[in-house]
Amino acid sequence: MFTLKLKSVSLLGALVLAMRLAAPIALPAAPAPGQTWQAPAALAISSDGRQLFAACARAHRILVLDAETLAVTASIALPDMPTGLVLSTNGRTLYVTCAAPAGSLVVLDIPRRKILRRIPAGHTAMAPVLTPDEKTAYVCNRFNNDISVLNLVSGKETSRIAVEREPVAAALTPNGKLLVVANHLHNGRADAERVAARVSLIDTATGKLLKNLPLPNGSGILNDVAISPDGRYACVTHVLARFQLPTTQVERGWINSNALTLIDLDTLSVINTVLLDNAESGAANPWTCGWSPDGTTLFVTHAGTHEVSLINFSGILARLAKLPENLQDRLTADYTTGSRVKADVVNDLAFLTGLRERIKLNGKGPRAAVAKGNRLYVASFFSDTVEIINLQHSQTPLLLQARLTADLPMSENRRGELYFNDASICFQGWQSCASCHSDDARVDGLNWDLLNDGIGNPKNTKSMLLAHRTPPAMSMGVRDTAETAVRAGLRSILFTVQPEEVPRAIDTYLKSLTPIPSPIVVSNAFASRIKAGEKIFNSTKAGCSACHPRGLFTDLQHYDVSTNNQTDKPGEAFDTPTLAEIWRTAPYLHDGSAATLREVLVEHNPADRHGSTSHLTPSQLDALICYLLSL
Ligand code: HEC
Ligand code: HEC
Repeated sequence: MFTLKLKSVSLLGALVLAMRLAAPIALPAAPAPGQTWQAPAALAISSDGRQLFAACARAHRILVLDAETLAVTASIALPDMPTGLVLSTNGRTLYVTCAAPAGSLVVLDIPRRKILRRIPAGHTAMAPVLTPDEKTAYVCNRFNNDISVLNLVSGKETSRIAVEREPVAAALTPNGKLLVVANHLHNGRADAERVAARVSLIDTATGKLLKNLPLPNGSGILNDVAISPDGRYACVTHVLARFQLPTTQVERGWINSNALTLIDLDTLSVINTVLLDNAESGAANPWTCGWSPDGTTLFVTHAGTHEVSLINFSGILARLAKLPENLQDRLTADYTTGSRVKADVVNDLAFLTGLRERIKLNGKGPRAAVAKGNRLYVASFFSDTVEIINLQHSQTPLLLQARLTADLPMSENRRGELYFNDASICFQGWQSCASCHSDDARVDGLNWDLLNDGIGNPKNTKSMLLAHRTPPAMSMGVRDTAETAVRAGLRSILFTVQPEEVPRAIDTYLKSLTPIPSPIVVSNAFASRIKAGEKIFNSTKAGCSACHPRGLFTDLQHYDVSTNNQTDKPGEAFDTPTLAEIWRTAPYLHDGSAATLREVLVEHNPADRHGSTSHLTPSQLDALICYLLSL
């Protein structure tokens, strides 16, 4: 039983707290600088369990908290937005990834509250991990699609390891031999039968990729990966999209379900994928996952429904092991779940029955969690709260809660970002806008058969960047403006009715999006090719700028550029899309049929009906692609 003398709340208290956005139990003094939101994105805890560190994405600082009282004891300013952090075993050095086009790993001296050095890494560095000897760090460079290997002794990057697309999380086995990397998105075309992101497995001795492990069809928006304390298993959180079905209903995970994939690190294979939802209540946007230090409990935060799942790990393994591969070799039938064979599990909304507790948090947007002893610390991105959950909870899960900032009013923009990521406004909590558009309102790389333009003609998810400035909305222009599309999205994709304040705030948030500089612009290596490509783009012969003029890169008109497929009507015209930030929105065209820009310009343009590209030499074509990737 838990014996710490904390201000714990009774079950009744916890329920009352859960029903409103709770008044904080402990309210530490707000950290000094200018009353900004902190937006905690990652947590670490010292090995003695006394200090908690929060990487605060919006305030660009590290907050140090007393792990007993949750009082803020120090605040350390950083040069850029922190995305992840890891602490040395002696608790003296904190390594923080900072996201920027030229990202870095910032090394902090904790006792002296000082930045010791800044080791350059790649574009939007995140998710740092330390080797057991603490001489090397691995960092995910989200927009370079690779991993930096950083020598912490020399303070230099020693190499890069290519992975798939948008690595956002990594974990190392306790012996330091295997690095497991979660790629946020798949990198193929979207009109294939199988479309799923993969997990990259890297042998650290050679720095070589061992394999890219495919997750089940529809897996995407991977957010975290963790390795069990004994090093035998990894778990990955992700969305499981039922993209093959028309989006006629949201019940029972018909559009998106929310999943955890377990990987066997001995055989380097997927054990199975388990749904985190219940039959009548989705558990949207699974984010952080991990094990309790004793390995018995698996935790997952649900950033969309503001919950934590605590899962009996040996129970899950035993239940999975009982299932036969196919019905012929059925040994025992477990009638407590709907699954009769292994392959059923991925569709089984009852699989976790009896093995999992869902705990409602008071915070909004739990994106960070760390376990120590019997406690789970959870930080919520939108409410600036930290909550301590009792891993042995049964009756009283919430031990203590505190806010990182004094009560700040939320701007309309921030409220909009919250709603965009908030599945509690969706019928039964199945998904949020972020389930398809990701948490920063871009793409999932999937095709969806939305009903607004008829049925049986799936369309590739569009980025929200510039959506409000480039009417009409949707690739067939079926919504006159993005404002209309936002309201239609609430009604027909989240199946909810919301007061006007909700879509208005979402509009404000989406209008505030700005393009992220392309990785190709960050490095000078491509400058001359980009210039040459720009010339071609603007030439009358190629004709690109006629429809994609500089500025918005769309003339807001629609055309038939011979990109129709069998499910489109002959001669169907499509809205000219903006090309801003096209480097990160693959696959391309209204039906996601082009995995790369080269495919758009070559395979999909044989008759020069989409600008003229057939006259281009290979090097001119390269230059044009370079230019497009720079926008
Ligand atoms: C099931 C996946 C899914 C979900 C959930 C979803 N969208 Fe979309 N969204 C799409 C797809 C696919 C398109 C592109 C459709 C097309 O081109 O016809 C799109 C397009 C849009 C557009 C038009 C962009 C443009 O420039 O034309 C807006 C605006 C939009 N979505 C807003 C939202 C909002 C707001 C939410 C949450 C209320 C949301 N979406 C939830 C899949 C989704
Ligand atoms: C006649 C107008 C027109 C011209 C000329 C034109 N485009 Fe397009 N472009 C479009 C339309 C319409 C689409 C959408 C087609 C679709 O979705 O199937 C599009 C789509 C694209 C896309 C895919 C964007 C995405 O997000 O999926 C790229 C890349 C692109 N164009 C580049 C070019 C280049 C490079 C040229 C010059 C060689 C060019 N376009 C010439 C109208 C035009």
